[in-house]
Amino acid sequence: VQKHGEDSIQRELFGTRLGFILAAVGSAVGLGNMWRFPYRVAEGGGAAFVTLYIILTLCLGIPLMLCEFSVGRRTRLSPIGAMRREGGGAWPLVGFLGVLTGLLILSYYSVIAGWVVRYGIEGILHGFAADPGAYFEQVTTGVAPIVYHIAFMVLTITIVSVGVEKGIEKASLILMPVLFTIVIGLAVWAATLVGSGEGYSFYLAPSFEELLNPTTLAEAGGQAFFSLSLGMGAMLTFASYLSRHENLNREATTIAFSDFGVAFTAGLVVFPVIAALGLQSQVSASTVGALFIALPGAFVEMGTMGRVVGIAFFFALTVGAVTSAVSLLEVVTASMIDEFKITRRPAAIGAGTLILLVGLLPATSLDALGVIDSITEWFLAVGALCMTIFVGWRMKDPVAEMVDGASGFFAAVVPTMMLFVKFVMPPIIAFVVFWSGRNAFNT
Ligand code: PFF
Repeated sequence: VQKHGEDSIQRELFGTRLGFILAAVGSAVGLGNMWRFPYRVAEGGGAAFVTLYIILTLCLGIPLMLCEFSVGRRTRLSPIGAMRREGGGAWPLVGFLGVLTGLLILSYYSVIAGWVVRYGIEGILHGFAADPGAYFEQVTTGVAPIVYHIAFMVLTITIVSVGVEKGIEKASLILMPVLFTIVIGLAVWAATLVGSGEGYSFYLAPSFEELLNPTTLAEAGGQAFFSLSLGMGAMLTFASYLSRHENLNREATTIAFSDFGVAFTAGLVVFPVIAALGLQSQVSASTVGALFIALPGAFVEMGTMGRVVGIAFFFALTVGAVTSAVSLLEVVTASMIDEFKITRRPAAIGAGTLILLVGLLPATSLDALGVIDSITEWFLAVGALCMTIFVGWRMKDPVAEMVDGASGFFAAVVPTMMLFVKFVMPPIIAFVVFWSGRNAFNT
């Protein structure tokens, strides 16, 4: 870990550019892509949702990530302190909202990660269950989800206690490509299944009417923020560990495309498999479980090889979940370090324990899990709106920060992108906030 003395801030820094990218990709790619994306697609609008999700990832996701990066790199602080230094006034509240959001997301994220671990272990011990719907029910009820949630939180706390570089950089290096390779392989395999056509058309052929549905747009926006780890200062915090002269715009673009690639490919597995194996009724009984019902079904279908692939899949997904969970806990921990001037270990343990306790609620109730999920989705949208307004209207000379280290195309588009950040993004995100607020609070 390097230290640098500029501004007399002593801050750990990423060892390498690759380390930063991996950590940011690791934060973005996780259960949001594999579990949440198919679940949200199944629940809201199929292909129309997918289409809007792609558009919003590109048009809102990339600029917003660049905004978060530039605030983090300039201030070298976690969200609350960053907003205080650059914005003053009530702006630190935005950072505070981010910390609260991180805490709440991790409380149920860890529960789902616990299910993933359980599936992996089950695959090793007994093979995958032949009745995936019933098995999903078993995994998500009783004491088991609590035990797995606690185990997963302890792992996350341990990694975050160790610190940014040692804890986070290395783990992603090997396992992210492994996860992606398995998912691509599964998508190719799914394409060979008889009867998958209905799944593809649900996933890929949008109905025009749905495209104009404001709820679908809001849900797609919420999913884009969630999946890209935006709206709560996670990317901001990572960028605070960055030395100068990285091409922030290129990194944001790379991360957004990788993240989108994984989610989209996951859908290319889940929907054809659901259709081909006739799992529709089990999935619609529990859309939250789309991934967990579709995939073990596929692994059983594949025979012995399926068991090996399935174990590898759940193992790699566990790592994807860990790297995202680490970034969630990192936001809370870094804020405690910066705000209370305490060291990393007690900060991570304190924050993690609190989250572990809050998580007992979603661990025991799928309904509670759903409610926290939609409320935090709304928080992310609110955070995203505030962040956009902040960078567009309050931060001093954001363009200078954004182009520092960028070159060619990535530098050239920044001034135009800033106009977009100032004038176009706030109304669109406000629309998402409005509609996803209706969703979050009406249910
Ligand atoms: N982006 C992560 C995922 O898709 O699994 C979840 C997440 C991580 C959301 C970090 C927000 C965040 F700040």
